[in-house]
Amino acid sequence: MDLIIRRAALAHHVAGRDALVDIAMKDGRMIGVEPNLAAKAAQEIDAAGLLVIPAFVDAHFHLDATLSYGLPRVNASGTLLEGIALWGELKPQLTQEALIERALQYCDWAVARGLLAIRSHVDVCDPRLLAVEALLEVKRRVAPYLDLQLVAFPQDGLLRSPGAFDNLKRAVGMGVDVVGGIPHFERTMADGAESIRLLCEFAAEKGLAVDMHCDESDDPLSRHIETLCAQAHRLGMQGRVAGSHLTSMHSMDNYYVSKLLPLMRESGVAAIANPLINITLQGRADTYPKRRGMTRVPEMLAAGINVAFGHDCVMDPWYSLGSADMLEVAHMGLHVAQMTGVDAMRAAFDAVTVRPAQILNLDGYGIAPGCRADCVLLDARDPIEAIRLRATRLAVVRRGAIVARTPSARATLSLEGRPGEIDFKLSR
Ligand code: FE2
Repeated sequence: MDLIIRRAALAHHVAGRDALVDIAMKDGRMIGVEPNLAAKAAQEIDAAGLLVIPAFVDAHFHLDATLSYGLPRVNASGTLLEGIALWGELKPQLTQEALIERALQYCDWAVARGLLAIRSHVDVCDPRLLAVEALLEVKRRVAPYLDLQLVAFPQDGLLRSPGAFDNLKRAVGMGVDVVGGIPHFERTMADGAESIRLLCEFAAEKGLAVDMHCDESDDPLSRHIETLCAQAHRLGMQGRVAGSHLTSMHSMDNYYVSKLLPLMRESGVAAIANPLINITLQGRADTYPKRRGMTRVPEMLAAGINVAFGHDCVMDPWYSLGSADMLEVAHMGLHVAQMTGVDAMRAAFDAVTVRPAQILNLDGYGIAPGCRADCVLLDARDPIEAIRLRATRLAVVRRGAIVARTPSARATLSLEGRPGEIDFKLSR
């Protein structure tokens, strides 16, 4: 064995002594996952009852814009519209070297946070396809330690931006994995529907998955998700189509949604909410009460629809904060959706792990014999404690080798009659 992690708690067990397992890894795969393994390994870690999870997964990100904070200026209002204007100012100034450097730096942060798979959109509206070339290069370079999936994203509209469809097709020809779209940004509802038809037919012909920015709006009549479902159903693309954001669903008529949710389920269309971004960018035109803007996550889960939480942005024209921490994303998603029940909190954890892994169709994801030897040791005993503490990633393992470590966060106290050190875990 190359590596054994001993006495690990798993996310879908209730943490307790008899539930602890040893995880043995060899040649990049998990070989054994059971209590008290007799095998020996070159390297061993004692998890001592702490949680070991397969890596975090981010189903929605923009690596071409990330870490550009302050270039050429900051988003003073913090709004979506100023963000789009700012990105328009930045685009002509982008260089491939700088794009690659920023994306690689973000991937360093991701690995340190145990985030080992990212689906990133890449803007294809610039005919030079500079960002596409840069992120394909990043994908090659990070492949040993991070799975990067790229989505060809016509940010300025497929039909609205001249040449966008040709650029998108070229990007796919160069190796971009997934077909994107932005129907609510086309000139009319009809153009939005037409863009969905064209993109889904193109993806079906190429055998590719589809992931569209869909209905990122407070307009309750923005119903492109319905068209996306109908096309997924018509073209037999169940399980290969995702709608990202879907914020208009927050504001939709309840009766209409009672028809839409079963349609999403029937069409096998997954939803990707982006809690940090949705809660800050949506509802901006409201006075009070102000809408939250995040899509209907608990209702979708109850309807049997797969839902993931994405990070979307870190230090870019749309969002000034973030550090590749998917537990921060889950924490926000849990609060915005009021997912405070025990099962709901666990579902929020799944929304940054197993659920996005399914959307990305990741090969060998999980903690079981035969799975890839990718996992993260958290300084928490169960998923709820992990979200509460935004738990430290004590060790991050990729293909059976430790690629990142972070020391546990502890405070020392100098108080008469009180403990000298605390780590914010409830004593059990
Ligand atoms: Fe996005």
